[in-house]
Amino acid sequence: MSQEQWTLVDDYISDHVSTSDPILEHALSSTQAAEIPSINVSPTQGKYLHLLAKISGAKKILEIGTLGGYSTIWLARALPADGSLITLEFSPEHADVAQSNINNAGLSHLVEIKVGAALDTLPKLVENGSGPFDFIFIDADKVNNANYLSWALKLSHVGTVIICDNVIRGGHLVDEANVSPDLIGTREFFDAVAAEKRLSATALQTVGVKGYDGFAIALVIAD
Ligand code: SAH
Ligand code: DHB
Ligand code: MG
Repeated sequence: MSQEQWTLVDDYISDHVSTSDPILEHALSSTQAAEIPSINVSPTQGKYLHLLAKISGAKKILEIGTLGGYSTIWLARALPADGSLITLEFSPEHADVAQSNINNAGLSHLVEIKVGAALDTLPKLVENGSGPFDFIFIDADKVNNANYLSWALKLSHVGTVIICDNVIRGGHLVDEANVSPDLIGTREFFDAVAAEKRLSATALQTVGVKGYDGFAIALVIAD
């Protein structure tokens, strides 16, 4: 099995269940046109996140790592009319593209982008009483994954779903010789999950158009 096969199967899935439309396509093409890297979740993964958020009945969503707003649109579309989503983005350029994509998707009344390093904006969310959130998607600089988990817990209630993207990285997660800061951050994330009695967690390895990677999912089960 190969990348070519994984892509063909993702295409097959997308041909059978709706994973795209002109608004989502525009979010991707405008991100590319702005020369921002295409490190968004794939269409099948975006739909998956959307369904998870809907299944959980989330009314308040927090996203860490906006990029061009592609996953933001998928998640915000899972919200009820009185829901809200806060998304944190370091880069003002990324945030500009994302804001225009969120406007184009008719979601600007539900979504607020907070520009800055997430380790600066997360404490403000706690101070301002912006939480708790029902669903939290961690997808920014992987080196801080354990720190983001810690802030996510401060912004959670029993029942909050916490998802972390890119936790498998082609299997390099378990390649101990690979000590890239991103992988170390994700290993610290798993160590923190393992030590955390408030969480029930697992991770799913995924293949598809974006290669071999995976999501961690954790449910807050105790205060
Ligand atoms: N969730 C997006 C992809 C996010 S890519 C999607 O799937 O569509 C990761 C994003 O995190 C990038 O836009 C990057 O600029 C941002 N980022 C990197 N470091 C950050 C930090 N310290 N705080 C907040 N955002 C950060
Ligand atoms: C990268 C970041 C992501 O969030 C992703 O989904 C894929 C790649 C990256 O930083 O390379
Ligand atoms: Mg990601």
